[in-house]
Amino acid sequence: GNRSHPTCRLSQSPILHANPFLILSYLPPSLFSFSFSSFSLSYLSLDSPLSPVSAMSHAKSREDANGECRDSKSRVTIVGSGSWGSVAAKLVASNALKLPSFHDEVRMWVFEEVLPNGEKLTDVINKTNENANYLPGIKLGRNVVADPDLENAVKEANMLVFVTPHQFMDGICKKLKGKIKGEVEAISLVKGMEVKKEGPCMISNLISKELGINCSVLMGANIANEIAVEKFSEATVGYRESREIADTWVQLFSTPYFMVTPVRDVEGVELCGTLKNVVAIAAGFVDGLEMGNNTKAAIMRIGLREMKALSKLLFPSVKDSTFFESCGVADVITTCLGGRNRRVAEAFAQSGGKRSFDELEAEMLEGQKLQGVSTAREVYEALNHRGWMEMFPLFSTVHQICIGRLKPDAIVNYRNFGPNPKL
Ligand SMILES: NC(=O)c1ccc[n+]([C@@H]2O[C@H](COP(=O)([O-])OP(=O)(O)OC[C@H]3O[C@@H](n4cnc5c(N)ncnc54)[C@H](O)[C@@H]3O)[C@@H](O)[C@H]2O)c1
Repeated sequence: GNRSHPTCRLSQSPILHANPFLILSYLPPSLFSFSFSSFSLSYLSLDSPLSPVSAMSHAKSREDANGECRDSKSRVTIVGSGSWGSVAAKLVASNALKLPSFHDEVRMWVFEEVLPNGEKLTDVINKTNENANYLPGIKLGRNVVADPDLENAVKEANMLVFVTPHQFMDGICKKLKGKIKGEVEAISLVKGMEVKKEGPCMISNLISKELGINCSVLMGANIANEIAVEKFSEATVGYRESREIADTWVQLFSTPYFMVTPVRDVEGVELCGTLKNVVAIAAGFVDGLEMGNNTKAAIMRIGLREMKALSKLLFPSVKDSTFFESCGVADVITTCLGGRNRRVAEAFAQSGGKRSFDELEAEMLEGQKLQGVSTAREVYEALNHRGWMEMFPLFSTVHQICIGRLKPDAIVNYRNFGPNPKL
């Protein structure tokens, strides 16, 4: 409900916050070229009517204990500063400057590192406006402020963007527990999951449970370096209930070169982003063994089918249509063609499985983290726990190749991939 102080409410005038992308999507598709018309159609085909008024009115008015208006503008903090974290900061910072409902400053929590010249990464980012370690050569925007203190970085924010490698999320949530105050919305850009005794736990769920806040997700065919130089791509926001909140995230991330579509299917969108990294490892094996394009296309199709089947088994609410969004088929294609998981898996297969993934990750990625290998293990554990291994031959084979139990060419053991009546 709107508990705002009246003066706070005044500052939320929808007219002031109009976003040209949302307005464009209301105009007849025939007015646009092909690409714009398909954008408009996909936007209008979503499950609830778009309300630009509500989309624009999310400038949070927060009150202190006496009901006094504290702030009518949203403050955003990016939790994470790797390649994708830095690109997310750049996207959000450019919009925060333009949109009156946001404070200009965007804080970015940086896991502090000391560079070879002895300088701290945070100081370098604040001095040069570039992340020298993870996104060199790209200006983040002068309104991005790097902060090595996690608690300090989030304490004023009412919109949190989580974007670290998934293995660090449990520790980050534990550190933030009880430290976040007031009405806070989160979005996770993290691809991966936690496997607990009781089963897999999606990162958005981990954030919601640990911090007691609602968490949406943003996933898609998004290789960070390409978006950093403003090459056109799309992404999907998965949201739980509130379309208003989804529209606010869409507004915060959308640029002319980054087109974001909301879908009411958090689990479907997040599982797509997580599971496609396992498919990318399989594609890398195929490349390392020089098996060609037909084989790679087969791996992508089989992988997508397993992604859909597993997602729906874990969460029956997952929608088929989600797999046709950017987070689904498009992300499978881009990570199987480019991306670090494919690249390192290719090197692994070229070595005949003799060099370990840890060794190759350290040698090839310069501090960036590989997600697919740990996700393959987590998926394998989940399948094993439920007795579903035979239903998911690609997923279980990838893990067994990664740990050296099978040779890389086992990825095309065709008997594994026959029609499975259970899928
Ligand atoms: N890079 C991409 O193209 C891309 C695209 C879409 C989504 N993603 C997802 O975004 C998430 C973040 O990836 P990224 O590419 O920004 O990161 P990255 O792999 O480029 O960088 C690793 C990050 O982890 C940090 N780190 C290292 N040790 C840490 C620790 N102990 N605790 C906390 N942080 C630590 C490093 O400082 C660095 O910021 C991942 O889930 C990834 O799957 C990445």
